[in-house]
Amino acid sequence: MKKTCLTVSVLALAAVGCSKTNNYTPAAGATGADIFKAACLECHKIENGRIFELAADKANAATIAKKITEGGVMMSSFPNLKGEELKAVSQYVVENSKVK
Ligand code: HEC
Repeated sequence: MKKTCLTVSVLALAAVGCSKTNNYTPAAGATGADIFKAACLECHKIENGRIFELAADKANAATIAKKITEGGVMMSSFPNLKGEELKAVSQYVVENSKVK
């Protein structure tokens, strides 16, 4: 991970810092919960059984999937999370978040 980070910043993204791409790749058959634990929990804790307080218009799997794919100002993107696995972890986040 550190190595990727360094490579990415040296090559192209020096200006946007070091957490832009996460090359985490889920194991075959990983559930949404497995993926969340492996890839997200380091930054997003589950408190009282919930992950986020999502605005109603963001509390759907498509919006969460977009966030995972694109990343954010601080959050890395996960280009290797796609297809069924992306859907599974997005759904898991929605199911375990509170809607504001
Ligand atoms: C390196 C730390 C880090 C990791 C790893 C990370 N995130 Fe994030 N995430 C953030 C930060 C910081 C924000 C808020 C700022 C931003 O968007 O960059 C955020 C924002 C989000 C949001 C928007 C929440 C809202 O209130 O609208 C979602 C959804 C999200 N992350 C899901 C995930 C999922 C799912 C994973 C795992 C695949 C993940 N994040 C991995 C740091 C991380």
